[in-house]
Amino acid sequence: MEKIVSLCKRRGFIFQSSEIYGGLASTWDYGSLGAELKRNLKNAWWTSNVYERADIEGLDASILMRPETWMASGHVTSFEDTLVDCRSCKKRFKVEHVTGKKCPECGGELTDARQFNLMLKTHLGPVEDTGSLTYLRPETAQGIFVNFQNVLTSMRRRLPFGIAQIGKSFRNEVTTGNLTFRSREFEQMEIEFFVKPGTDEEWYEKWVNERFEWYIKLGIKKENLRKRRHEKSELAHYAKACTDIEYKFPFGWSELEGIANRTDFDLKQHIRLSGKDLQYFDDETKEKYIPYVIEPSGGVDRSILAFLTDSYKEEEVKGEKRVSLAIHKKLAPIKVAILPLLRNRPDIVALAKTILNDLKGCPALGGKVMYDDTAGIGRLYRRQDEIGTPFCITVDVDSLSDKKVTVRDRDSMKQDRVAVEKVKEYLEEKFN
Ligand code: GAP
Repeated sequence: MEKIVSLCKRRGFIFQSSEIYGGLASTWDYGSLGAELKRNLKNAWWTSNVYERADIEGLDASILMRPETWMASGHVTSFEDTLVDCRSCKKRFKVEHVTGKKCPECGGELTDARQFNLMLKTHLGPVEDTGSLTYLRPETAQGIFVNFQNVLTSMRRRLPFGIAQIGKSFRNEVTTGNLTFRSREFEQMEIEFFVKPGTDEEWYEKWVNERFEWYIKLGIKKENLRKRRHEKSELAHYAKACTDIEYKFPFGWSELEGIANRTDFDLKQHIRLSGKDLQYFDDETKEKYIPYVIEPSGGVDRSILAFLTDSYKEEEVKGEKRVSLAIHKKLAPIKVAILPLLRNRPDIVALAKTILNDLKGCPALGGKVMYDDTAGIGRLYRRQDEIGTPFCITVDVDSLSDKKVTVRDRDSMKQDRVAVEKVKEYLEEKFN
């Protein structure tokens, strides 16, 4: 974990929020490479769920919602941890993390256990009274439920169909640590998949398998991924069944994504509190019912942590330690790096820049192309390996006469000599 944390900071994947002021606990800023990785990950999720399926629509709902939403969803009453405080050091712990009556950090006396709601509150408008109280959403799901009828009718959908959304969520988490694993501000990738009651269990199984395979297809090693079905006692207040996809993080097996059978709990609650009819009318069978919902809910930040951990590699090459990120090409923050062998040779630099201009923004590569001449070639390769750049192009003296460049593959370290005019085609094929 220390190696991942150090890589993230050193190479600009993840920084602590407000670092110059001492940092804000459990909130994180994604640096230039982190921002690219995050964007690529979200694109991969959106592509496979919204574009490559015919039964899912996208949505982008607001973070702030009417407080009634959270009463209906049960978050106002049930989204709680049971906590104890230390009277001496003032630290706060979840009861299940404390044995006995003494503070695990300083040995001080602990208060009695009390309930602590995890939602972050805020006030809207100029007056800070109870009437202006609202919450920063603790899950994106409710934005989908309250828009179920809007999407259903505007997109002329029939069941089964799903609504997908990626967005920020906020929780006043108490146990934090392990970089972004449990943050107070994080991003979720959620689907609410609406089905006919009675078909829910079959869809639930399908989604568990579908989501498991998604991580494998994007390169997570199978041995580091497992499915764990929740015991009855662990289920959230809205769920009839839930399976976590867990990843073997350096700190142990932990949840990456949860797939829950939320039944008709949420829609029923919104019907009750809003007084609106959110039932579905099946115009073929003439039946009217409240759909059941299967919810695959993943975390962007946890996925990033898993993909970084899983692809981190240390090996010995010609007596030297080589660190590389063998990350999937789709996710790699930099797709191609162009490295001139001699930065003080204007003719080499000019050729390298021509290649850069030809490749940057190329849709087939699907991301950023960079130019780097700030060190010797050995160091430049090491830097690119460490951030997971799949291909490096080196422009050398011979390139001027034979009009060819060296393209180096990150994983095999194999080098191909490719004609300058064919480089784009060569890379397009590799990224296909
Ligand atoms: N709508 C269902 C829901 O929110 P959850 O299991 O509480 O279920 C779903 O959260 C996913 O969101 C988790 O599997 C995790 O990836 C991510 N997540 C939840 N809390 C998080 C936190 N504090 N920091 C980072 N990611 C978090």
